[in-house]
Amino acid sequence: MIIDTHSHLNMDEFKEDLFDVLKRAKEHDVNRILVIGMDEPSNHRAIALAHENEMLYATVGVHPGYVDHATTHHLKDLLKKDKVVAIGECGLDFYWETNNKELQIKVFQEQIQLALETGLPLVIHTRNSFEEAYQCLLPYQGKVTGVFHCFSSDLQDAKRAIQLGFMIGIDGPVTFKNNKLLHELVRDIDLSNILVETDSPYLTPHPYRGKRNEPGYVRFVVEKIAEIKEMTVEEVIEITTQNAIHLFKLGGNTR
Ligand code: NI
Repeated sequence: MIIDTHSHLNMDEFKEDLFDVLKRAKEHDVNRILVIGMDEPSNHRAIALAHENEMLYATVGVHPGYVDHATTHHLKDLLKKDKVVAIGECGLDFYWETNNKELQIKVFQEQIQLALETGLPLVIHTRNSFEEAYQCLLPYQGKVTGVFHCFSSDLQDAKRAIQLGFMIGIDGPVTFKNNKLLHELVRDIDLSNILVETDSPYLTPHPYRGKRNEPGYVRFVVEKIAEIKEMTVEEVIEITTQNAIHLFKLGGNTR
């Protein structure tokens, strides 16, 4: 069984054909999927989906791209709901928006505090902001955990993230031929630190690049990791699935 640890099945892109998307996921052995919230409506939708579908789990948070419109006030209640397994996605994005850095940092810190209070892991988004996010987390080393989703910094930073107690999320871009830096990173860090994700509907892997991404395609990420690390696909599935079960405390049957 493969787990897609990062999807946005709560977005309108999946409104029409979610049933078929989940059916195709199962055909690729993807039997558990995390649905990631980004603001209040998408958090509620993630939870509703998780309650309707056995395969789905939810995370709730405020994404750095939404901090101008959303607050963290609603999170405390939602974090108590059944099948909510993490806080996020949250973090810092200094690629799309640099005029509200202080607000982004404040909202991220509020969610780090929620992680401390609840013991839930953080699903972290960074873009051009690894250093700042790292500095926010450093005081809580050993007290909070989670994943740097869709890791986009270099090997050095990946090692610092791991040292901090975090996992590294690997997505579709690893399947792109020219992504040598990411290939090296995957080769050089231990598989015990890697989670596989799609970020559906974004970041579609080769050979479907340009189309809508969906959780079943996480299999292409797994296959590429196996190729880079010269391991079997089965070994990569076994270890990354255990990593996800352990981090998000998914429990139960893994078959
Ligand atoms: Ni995402």
